[in-house]
Formats: sequence, structure tokens, C-alpha cells
Amino acid sequence: MPERFVLSINEKAFLKDLSTRPLTVKQFIEHALYHPLNGYYMTHPVFGAAGDYTTAPEMTQIFGELLAIWHLNYFAKLPTPPSSIALIELGPGRGTLMADMLRVFQRFPKFYDLLKVYLIEISPALKNIQRQKLAGHPVEWVQTLEDTSPSDVTFIIANEFFDALPIEQYVWIDEHWQTRQVGFVDGNLDFLGPKDVPIRQSCPDYDVYMQAINQRLKTSRGAAVMIDYGDDTDVGHIHGDTLQALHQHRPTSPFENIGHQDLSHAVDFGALKRQVDPILKTHLTTQRDFLLQLGLEQRLMALCQQAPPYEAMALKTAVARLVAPSAMGTLFKVLTIQTP
Ligand SMILES: C[S@@+](CC[C@H](N)C(=O)[O-])C[C@H]1O[C@@H](n2cnc3c(N)ncnc32)[C@H](O)[C@@H]1O
Repeated sequence: MPERFVLSINEKAFLKDLSTRPLTVKQFIEHALYHPLNGYYMTHPVFGAAGDYTTAPEMTQIFGELLAIWHLNYFAKLPTPPSSIALIELGPGRGTLMADMLRVFQRFPKFYDLLKVYLIEISPALKNIQRQKLAGHPVEWVQTLEDTSPSDVTFIIANEFFDALPIEQYVWIDEHWQTRQVGFVDGNLDFLGPKDVPIRQSCPDYDVYMQAINQRLKTSRGAAVMIDYGDDTDVGHIHGDTLQALHQHRPTSPFENIGHQDLSHAVDFGALKRQVDPILKTHLTTQRDFLLQLGLEQRLMALCQQAPPYEAMALKTAVARLVAPSAMGTLFKVLTIQTP
């Protein structure tokens, strides 16, 4: 067993398991992210500028503020005022997006006073951070969408949640798609089988969440907003090997730093869209177009006018990253699903 691996994972059952039988890619990712003792999200998920990677809400408050405006616009267009609103966030991370949205909602008591927030978060470490950041707001942590109480209007939001879910990969060998496996090759953890063969992916958890979202939006008015990096595979993009490992903002091998680095995949928006119940309306756009339409430039100008020059410069840099086609602007997509 290579020392590097033993040192980084330190979990006998897993090593024994791997040395006796290979794991599928999904099983490997589940272990690396969710193992109760060693999983990245269970112990030390570190994101933000000082961590392994950063997300849009961690870059600037404007991201959450504009998402709040999207929800307020929807609310304003409702033909009859709602009696209750559930706002459900999947994978709220450090709670920053929700905190920024709630700050805006508090200025609209007709919205805020009807609100119950539900957070679905697997990481005990992140739950603690969320608890501190969102203290004083009507927030409850639940395990699944089905655990939330019925509401007249429901909003579901997920930023960089679907990319964190474990994927299965398949390799084209001997005229068949075969499940890709992970095991030991010459004493090192690696993918088994031939390299340089076509690869595709599937994410069984997409179905679980999409069925729950469909169900909820069939019994309540409302909308879901899902933001992630990935492509609309229905219009010609084909996903090969999109499994990505990031450690301290640098791409690494999935087999380095196990439990100490993030693993994610490019979201297959075609697969997500195909799961949406046909009675619901869907719209897919780029993060760039979505944020610009919500008034990103105007909000940036207003904030910069009040900020000292170094803060204004930092804001402009963060906003440029969110919308530049060479950065997150077109890589990230926004899928909205709305009741008719
Ligand atoms: C990439 S982070 C994004 C965090 C946050 N949405 C943001 O934009 O900063 C993924 C989040 O999803 C959570 N997560 C990952 N897998 C999960 C699962 N199966 N169930 C619930 N939460 C999960 C992680 O703990 C983390 O909070």
C-alpha cells in the first residue's frame, strides 16, 4: 500500500475493501466526500478564497442579492398573494447565499413575514457555520425535500449542489458501455482498465432530487433555480470524463489528498431537463445572461459608489469573474423550473 494513500485516508475498512474488490467511480466518490470519518464534506470542507475552491456567493454579495430580486419579481407577478412561502436550499455551504438573500427579503416584510427557510445539508461542519450565519431567521434543517411542510408558494434554490453529487462513469470497451472501476494498479490507486476510451457519466441522484422537485411543484405554486457548471447535453455537448478534483484551487488527481479535496463533475443539464415534469416550464440560460438581466451592472455601480477604491476594485474583479465568458459567465448555466 503506498504510504501517501495510507497517510491521507487512514481508514482501514476502506483500504481492506479496495484491496480485495474494486469500487465503482460513484462508490469511490461517495467514500471520498461522505465517509463519516474521512469524507471531505463530513470533516473539513474548505471553500471560499482561502479554501480549495470558491463559489459565486463567496465572491460577492451581489450574487445573492440578484437571486433575491429574481424571487421578489416572481412574487410580485403572482395573481393572488400567497399565504405562506417555503424557501428550500440544497447544499447551502457556508450559508452565505441564503444570508445575502434574506438581508434583501427583510426589506420586503410582505415577503419575509410569510417565509420559512429549509436547508438540506449533509455536512455537520457546514451546518454549524450555517447556524451561526443565519441565527435569528426562521430556518430549519431537514434531510429531504419531503420533510418540509406544505406551503402555498415554494422556492427551491441550488448553487453548485448538483455538481457535488457522486457520478457513475462508463467506459466503451469491447463494443459495450462498462461501469468504470477504481482499484489498485501497481500499488497505486487508479482507474482500472484501458485509458483513452470513450467515457460517459450518469448521476443517479439527479433523479431523486428532480422527482422530489416535480412532486413539490405539482402541489404548490413556485419555482426552482439551479446554478452549476455544465452543459446542455441535449444540444450537442457530450460529456466525457468530467470528474474534477480541486485542492487549494489547483486541479489534482482524484486519488490525491482523498478526503482533503473537492470532487465534482460538469452537470448534465440535458439530463436534468429531461426529468422535469412536462406541466412545468423550464428555461436554461448562462449565468452571464441571467445576472446581467437582473441588473448586475447597475448594482455593481451603486455599491462601488459607496465603497473605498480598493473595495470597489475587488467588487469589479469578482463581478467580472461571474460573467466573463472566459471565467464563469458561460461555463455556468442557470436552469429555472416554474409552475405554469
Ligand atoms: C460545492 S458546495 C456549494 C455550497 C454553496 N451552495 C455555495 O454556492 O457556496 C456543495 C454543498 O452541497 C453540500 N452537499 C454535497 N452533497 C450533498 C448531499 N448529498 N446532500 C446534502 N448536501 C450535500 C455540501 O456539503 C455543500 O454545502
